[in-house]
Amino acid sequence: MTAPPPTEGGAVPPQAPHPNLTGYYAAAGERAGFVRRLFDDTAAQYDRINSVFSLGSGAWYRRHALRRAGLRPGARVLDVACGTGLVAREAARLTGDPAAVLGLDPSAGMLAEARRGLPVPLVQGRAEHLPLPAASVDFVTMGYALRHVAELGTAFAEFHRVLRPGGTVLLLEIGRPEGRLGLALARAYLGHVVPALCRLRAPRSGMLMRYYWDTIEACVPAETILRHLRGAGFSGVTCETSLGIFRAYTARR
Ligand SMILES: C[S@@+](CC[C@H](N)C(=O)[O-])C[C@H]1O[C@@H](n2cnc3c(N)ncnc32)[C@H](O)[C@@H]1O
Repeated sequence: MTAPPPTEGGAVPPQAPHPNLTGYYAAAGERAGFVRRLFDDTAAQYDRINSVFSLGSGAWYRRHALRRAGLRPGARVLDVACGTGLVAREAARLTGDPAAVLGLDPSAGMLAEARRGLPVPLVQGRAEHLPLPAASVDFVTMGYALRHVAELGTAFAEFHRVLRPGGTVLLLEIGRPEGRLGLALARAYLGHVVPALCRLRAPRSGMLMRYYWDTIEACVPAETILRHLRGAGFSGVTCETSLGIFRAYTARR
């Protein structure tokens, strides 16, 4: 997908993270419901799928990224799209205070899984409308969920609103590899092998992993995400890529 040209004067036009994927839902208005049901239905299998197919983006990588972005003891953290709690758990380890980490997710199924073993407070909600007061946290994290928001600028404006001045946002994502060989390998493994193996256990898990790859492949490029972070008022905006596929976006309020 071609990124729209940068706009003058700081105004950035609305941008969905990817075009409608009409093989899964008919219209944009149906996307959020489709995604919520998909995660509700696969929540019980999510941690297992993640540990087998995460390509190293497991607990170690999440903790490393949080530490590198500057998360320290004493910080108050909001983990948006916490799912079963894989980022929130590592954030609680680093801050040393589980009560200082709040997990937020729209999927009741994912939150129920998180509640089983995660000692942090949890709340149902969406990135686009955070149920928190302005300037109330030091750190906002979002792991592997940026592709699911309705519009980048709306979510980033909310992250900016709830962060205290000087606070940090860290977004972890999988990005489409740029080289042809890397793209072909990622498409074969993430787009075909992983969904087929997951389908053997449960059809909905196969669909989750197929959707995972399709949204990665259709997602806007890193420059567009960086531009929208700047447009929401963030500074020091960076994207670090590891192994051509793991992206860590950081920015300061
Ligand atoms: C791939 S999981 C990631 C979970 C966790 N962050 C991790 O690192 O494993 C994506 C999560 O995003 C959540 N999600 C989907 N749409 C969302 C939205 N608009 N706002 C916040 N979370 C959303 C889903 O319910 C799901 O739990």
